[in-house]
Amino acid sequence: MSTKQIETAYIKAGSADLGEFPVYGAVIGKPAIATSALMGKGYFTYDPGYFSTVMCTSSITMVQGDEGVLLYRGYSIEDLASYYTYPAVCQLLMTEKLPGDAAAVDFSEDLQARTAIPQELTNLIAALPQDAHPMAMLMSAVASLEGFYPELCDISNPETRLEAAKTLLAVLPMIASLCHARRHGEQVAPTMRPATTHAEDFLRGIREGDEAPSATLVHAMDQILTLHADHEQNASTAVLRATGSTGANIFACAAAAIGALWGPAHGGANEACLSMLRTIGSTEKVRHFVKRAKDHDDPFRLMGFGHRVYKSYDPRAKIMRGICHDVLKEMDKQNDPMLKVALQLEKIALDDPYFVERKLYPNVDFYSGITLNAMGIHDSFFTVIFAVARSVGWASHWLEMHATEQTRICRPRQLYIGENKRPAPKPSA
Ligand code: SDX
Repeated sequence: MSTKQIETAYIKAGSADLGEFPVYGAVIGKPAIATSALMGKGYFTYDPGYFSTVMCTSSITMVQGDEGVLLYRGYSIEDLASYYTYPAVCQLLMTEKLPGDAAAVDFSEDLQARTAIPQELTNLIAALPQDAHPMAMLMSAVASLEGFYPELCDISNPETRLEAAKTLLAVLPMIASLCHARRHGEQVAPTMRPATTHAEDFLRGIREGDEAPSATLVHAMDQILTLHADHEQNASTAVLRATGSTGANIFACAAAAIGALWGPAHGGANEACLSMLRTIGSTEKVRHFVKRAKDHDDPFRLMGFGHRVYKSYDPRAKIMRGICHDVLKEMDKQNDPMLKVALQLEKIALDDPYFVERKLYPNVDFYSGITLNAMGIHDSFFTVIFAVARSVGWASHWLEMHATEQTRICRPRQLYIGENKRPAPKPSA
């Protein structure tokens, strides 16, 4: 039975007079009713997908879906993407301080110092199946980090927790490069690259070809990392917090989050979007596929469209669209057939009542897929880039949950609709 069928079958009419409940106010966003007291009145709350459920308090990021606003520590994504680089945004998310703040420490050198990869980790990645999806490689390597940094897994010590978080941020881009080398059957020693920018260093490691990337491509990668750095309680961050609530170390939490991010409904949408554009193949077929996307009996969906929270344009998509056009111009791909399909799809969907009524707009993944493809990055690495970018969000939420003592184990309940209690038949002798 689907959720919709269950809700039809089990919904009970009527209402319950449940009396008063405390309501918590937010600095920005909707207030929240404290429903924990419901248990004492004999009720659970029913909210599949936790669409209207608050799981924690947080000061890191705020998404205002109806207004299309995204704030990191109160600063708009537009300002941060215009004025700062990804390492500075990492510093802001992790330490609440922007470079230039009196108490700010130089974060990027800190990250650079940690990027030496243990040889055994290189050997582990070299032993993974060459055709494994890079997200499987990343998840395996990150889960193994406890074995290389056991001294960073004491979650009771705040200084150790910060060291562990910075180590995760620093090694992840190097692991991604080693996964890229493995996919290409190249033997790669854990080398420290010449001191370039974080984005250039990372881009060199996961891009096809050896030529140095242009300033436009390096800037595009830096912006992509900033745009994907954090997004409050998205599915992978919620998984990270749930895993952290059991007392797991940051590497185990990050591996769990990577698994959640991989799905095409979440971080895997950029790779799925490219695959969809290739399937559509030509502008002549766009209307046929839009019709399929509207047919509920057809599993086909427009990858890169829609969002659980943004019911107006994703502010990251606006910035990503501009980056996309800059990269396509730089790479002389303005006439790329896939881009023509994407632009036709965007035009038709934005005019179609089905999408307009449901407030389904292109999201950040719609343009990031096209951009990364034009930058010479293989589709299978798109979500790896998303994971590297989001690692600072995951680390920041992990640090915050411990610092604010929001570590009570996550344990949702259910609406049981199985068999009533019944005696088991005694097996015949
Ligand atoms: C990310 O949460 C985050 O913050 C995530 C993220 C982050 O930074 O962490 O922003 C990153 O994951 C972005 C989203 C990437 N995913 C995709 O692009 C995949 C395609 N999108 C859909 O799968 C969908 O839109 C979701 C999963 C993103 C949102 O799903 P919802 O909110 O549960 O949407 P819904 O199922 O409630 O849809 C409402 C209606 C339904 O139709 P009706 O039942 O009302 O008739 O819209 C339809 C859906 O069928 N719909 C779509 C659609 N998305 C929703 N129809 C066609 N194509 C789509 N893409």
